[in-house]
Amino acid sequence: MSREKVTPYHFLKLKREGKRIVMVTAYEHVHAKLADEAGVDGILVGDSLGMVVMGYRSTLPVTFREVAHHLRAVLSASPRALVVADMPFLTYEVSREEAIRNAGRYVKMGADAVKIEGGAEVVDKVEAMVKAGIPVMGHVGLNPQRYLVLGMRVRGKTAEDGLRVFEDAKALEEAGVFSVVIEFTTAEVAAEVTRALRVPTICIGSGPQCDGQILVFHDLVGLNVSPPPFVKRYAEGYEVFRRALASYAEEVRSGAFPERAHYFTMKPEELGRLEELLGKRRAGPVERSSG
Ligand code: KIV
Repeated sequence: MSREKVTPYHFLKLKREGKRIVMVTAYEHVHAKLADEAGVDGILVGDSLGMVVMGYRSTLPVTFREVAHHLRAVLSASPRALVVADMPFLTYEVSREEAIRNAGRYVKMGADAVKIEGGAEVVDKVEAMVKAGIPVMGHVGLNPQRYLVLGMRVRGKTAEDGLRVFEDAKALEEAGVFSVVIEFTTAEVAAEVTRALRVPTICIGSGPQCDGQILVFHDLVGLNVSPPPFVKRYAEGYEVFRRALASYAEEVRSGAFPERAHYFTMKPEELGRLEELLGKRRAGPVERSSG
């Protein structure tokens, strides 16, 4: 596999060549290393970290600093994959200036691009960021940052709602995004959007006819005990770790751990000297040698 760094330009090229794009979220050094070794094309430091790492009930409380913290951990693995920083709720909606400034801070840290949620209502922010030189990934369909207004429902079940998702994706493309995430949207709508856009669509819970797929790390490896219904679990991570921790606890209690391979010993003559020193110490203050 080539070690050439993946750029937004590669995403467009992969679409032109009809090659599927693979993305996964990651929140720390080891996740990023694993994802990169597995050969994914893109890593999203998603605001889903609020739920799967921090245990929040939604992504709304996630802060700029929390994403920055996890972005730093992911970047420390120097991934070949494109690294996209997710912009948390209220870090880009208020004004174009704030959007540029906040997105720019992630790019200055080393992110290759940023992602924002929303369609037609955020195109002015997308245009401003792209003009400032920041590659932007869009995110239509279910927008978890807007769930209080829009709900957490499958999008595109009716023709009218499908058209809204379609128009949102088209508006984002015109504003300059290099790709669009389509979340939890009917497969037919995602397929129509994918056919209509020049930029690649990256789907999550939106069917097979997209240019790429993304899953949340914890869902994929089975660390999330209540994942969304569209997730495919590729490992039983929770059970694997739970069993490892239970074995550890049992072995500590029984004395089976640590074994000989897990600790170091002194040379016998050093042990003899230590016992001598301890004996003197018990008898009175120890005289320390200057060497
Ligand atoms: O935050 C996230 O993980 C996301 C993906 C669901 C696309 O936005």
